[in-house]
Amino acid sequence: MCGIVGYIGPKPSKNIILRGLEALEYRGYDSAGIALVDSKGGQVFKQVGRVNGLTQEVEEEASNAGLAIGHTRWATHGGVTVANAHPQMNSDHSIFVVHNGIIENFDELRQRLEEAGYTFESETDTEVVPQLIDYYLKQLPSFVAAFEATLRDVRGAYSIVAISTAEPETLYAARLSSPLVIGVGEHENFLASDPSAIMDHTKKVIYLEDYDVAVITKDKVDIHNLKEDTHTSPKIELLDYENEKALLGDYPNFMLKEIFEAPAAIRSATLGRAVVEQNMVKLGGLEGVLGQLKYIDRIVIVAMGTSYYAGLVGEYLIEELADIPVEVQLASEFNYRKEPFSRSTALLAISQSGETADTIAALKKVEDYGVLRLGIVNAVGSTIARMTDAGVYCHAGPEKAVASTKAFLAQVTVLLLIALHLNDGRSKRFRPLIEELNELPAKAQAILDHTDEIKAIAEKYADYRDFLFIGRHTGFPAALEGALKVKEISYLHAEGYAAGEMKHGPLAMIDENFPTFAIATDSPLLEKTYSNIQEIKARKGPVLALATRGNKAITKFCSDVIYIPETEPETQSILQVIVMQLFAYYIAIKRDNDVDRPRNLAKSVTVE
Ligand code: M6R
Repeated sequence: MCGIVGYIGPKPSKNIILRGLEALEYRGYDSAGIALVDSKGGQVFKQVGRVNGLTQEVEEEASNAGLAIGHTRWATHGGVTVANAHPQMNSDHSIFVVHNGIIENFDELRQRLEEAGYTFESETDTEVVPQLIDYYLKQLPSFVAAFEATLRDVRGAYSIVAISTAEPETLYAARLSSPLVIGVGEHENFLASDPSAIMDHTKKVIYLEDYDVAVITKDKVDIHNLKEDTHTSPKIELLDYENEKALLGDYPNFMLKEIFEAPAAIRSATLGRAVVEQNMVKLGGLEGVLGQLKYIDRIVIVAMGTSYYAGLVGEYLIEELADIPVEVQLASEFNYRKEPFSRSTALLAISQSGETADTIAALKKVEDYGVLRLGIVNAVGSTIARMTDAGVYCHAGPEKAVASTKAFLAQVTVLLLIALHLNDGRSKRFRPLIEELNELPAKAQAILDHTDEIKAIAEKYADYRDFLFIGRHTGFPAALEGALKVKEISYLHAEGYAAGEMKHGPLAMIDENFPTFAIATDSPLLEKTYSNIQEIKARKGPVLALATRGNKAITKFCSDVIYIPETEPETQSILQVIVMQLFAYYIAIKRDNDVDRPRNLAKSVTVE
């Protein structure tokens, strides 16, 4: 969840690291730090808060050293303090370490070191790493030997980068279940937890694999895999990443920009895949496993957060269109339960970042089961994209705001394409849905054209403390996603419920201070939703309904109505969620919240 960046080369590293940290800040943003090393020694700058709080001091006081590492933190062990910010150091401040992940046995290691006379300055799990390196350096012949001995003692998940005043020309890096990528330059090399931090400098990258230990100088990268005990020749890949799309342009923040990219995200997800002229769905990413797909009789979807809710929509779509039973599980639960799993089951991981620790662990769990592992991933080249047997990219472009928006739309679009692909033209729904997928970007745009109306309604509701979101069929997971958007950026209480559940408990909460956002778009179940709305109104609960354009009747018994264009039942959730994204956004803005970086959260959750 933290961001790491490193540099070794002839240029002054401080600016490269600062810019890299700014690009990574969306991953974690409670504190930041930089360590620089040259032949004269080391320097450390740390600060609670955003990277820009560090900039002036570093620009003015840091040396022009060509070796440096930087870190943006999302606190796990120990509060948000300067002492707990990274880089963490050994006692004489000659070894500097930045770390992403969790060292599970840090307590035991710390005790061992304290018994050996070491004292600690922070409450972090990370501090044991520079101290252990220091400990082993006293017994072993080289820094790399001490680094590897330390890694052998450490349990958990990590990407770790270390530098030392004794070796002002070398970066040491290691990865286990947490991403790390080396950027290869001309007589210079870069290192980052996310390519966006280094892609202004080079497009040539080496992705580290689990148990890899890399020794990086300006002209050389040596990789030793600790598990296999092999030295591999690094495989250089070309980054396929459009950075310009990650720039803010005229938008006040990334969240609004990304909500407004809805039409483009849906279009990119369908482009060349839903081919109306040929009445077919082409998914290149699945071509290699077509034979296996024929024998799949159960699909288990694993994901977290918004991606999990997209998976719940996918469950309806795949079961109804492809007639294959689907189960959707939170990856964090899937990982710790025992269940029968046959080879005719496929595991489908959904992830925007492709770096979510729980989802990666779910894929690892079934590694030896011989099951087909599929992925729906947005971030090209991410860990999940690389560890699945086959998959379909979302192509939504980089998503920077912590709250996922356009990625959800692309995930549902891709799930619908997969459902149609598995259906292989058998259902009567095939043709209308392919046509509708091509119409959908224009319908998403039509919603965005009415942003001012949604904004006015959101502002009217911004002072309530609690919200209920209800829906039926795919509108139910859409309601869960709407509630999540409100929670994460407004910090208000919001719950998503299946409308049919109201009488089974939630109705007890309803009064004039507890509004309901009711998804009541046209469907065969609409009358049942009307009954739920009436029951809420009878208890004085304000109801804001989301209806299909043309439905005048609903205005008679709802406090407010927002309309979306008419669309097929299978594509409704995509349009519904755009409205809820805007609704949550404008509530959060009215409450003066930082929508791109909501408190306590980070963009990719790379620890369990
Ligand atoms: O990158 P992923 O899609 O795997 O992330 C999963 C969740 O962490 C993510 O969707 C999270 O819930 C978002 N902040 C929701 O807006």
